[in-house]
Amino acid sequence: MTGITGIGLMLFLVGHIVGNLSIFGSPDAFNIYTKTLEDLGPLLYVIEAGLAFFFLYHTILGISIWLNRRKARPEGYKKYQTKGGASHQSLASRSMIYTGIITLVFLVFHIWTFKFGDTEMVQLSTGEMGRDLRALVIEKFTEPLYAFGYTFVLSLLILHLSHGFWSAFTSLTMKNGKGSKKVQLAAYGFAIVIMLAFIFIPLYIYFTGGEGSLISY
Ligand code: HEM
Repeated sequence: MTGITGIGLMLFLVGHIVGNLSIFGSPDAFNIYTKTLEDLGPLLYVIEAGLAFFFLYHTILGISIWLNRRKARPEGYKKYQTKGGASHQSLASRSMIYTGIITLVFLVFHIWTFKFGDTEMVQLSTGEMGRDLRALVIEKFTEPLYAFGYTFVLSLLILHLSHGFWSAFTSLTMKNGKGSKKVQLAAYGFAIVIMLAFIFIPLYIYFTGGEGSLISY
C-alpha cells in the first residue's frame, strides 16, 4: 500500500511540476493556472482531501514499516555491508524515514508560504481578477534562505522518490521475486528528472534575481 499511495503522490508531483513550469510561460500563465485550480471549487476540496488522505496514509504506513524493522533488529546495523551478493540496501532506502519526515515538515511550511501566503489581486489576460502567486514565488525565491532551503529539501526528495519509485515499480512488475535493473534505472531516472525540474525553479529565479529571460517580460 505504501507503493499505491506513493504512486498517487507521484502523479500529483507530475501534475504539480507541469503546472509550476508555466511560470516560464506568458506573463500570467502561472496565475491563470493557479486560478483555474482555485476555480474548481468543491472539486478542488475533494482532490485536496484525497491528497491529504494519501499523504497521511503513506506517512503512517512508512512509520509503521520503520518501527517494525527496528523491532526486528533493535540495535540496528553497526556497519552496512553486503554478504557479497547484490543488496537492495542503499543510502536512499535506509534514509526513507528521515527524508519522509523532512518532506512532511517541508509540506506544512510550503503550503503555508504559497497556498496561504499574502498576495495581491491582479487583472489576468482573461479579464478576471486572480492572486498574483507568480510574484510571490519570485519574491520568495530571490531570498537565499528560500532558494537554497528549497534546493536542499528538493534534493533530499530525489533520494526518497528514487527508492520509493523503485520499490513501487518493483512490486508492480516483479516476477519470481526479482526486480529488474531496468526498472531501477527507470525509477531513478524518473525521480531525478522530475526533481531537477522542481529545483530549476528556485535556482533560476535566485541566480537571475527574478529577471532572467525565461521569466521576465
Ligand atoms: C519549486 C518547487 C515548487 C513550487 C514553486 C511550488 C509552488 C506551489 C504553489 C504556488 C502552490 C499554491 C497553489 C495555489 O494555492 O493555487 C503550491 C501548493 C502545493 N504544493 Fe507546491 N511547489 C513546489 C514544490 C512542491 C513539492 C516538491 C511538493 C510535494 C512534495 C509540493 C506540494 C504542494 C501541495 C500539496 C500544495 C497544496 C495543493 C492544494 O492544496 O491545492 N510542492 N505549490
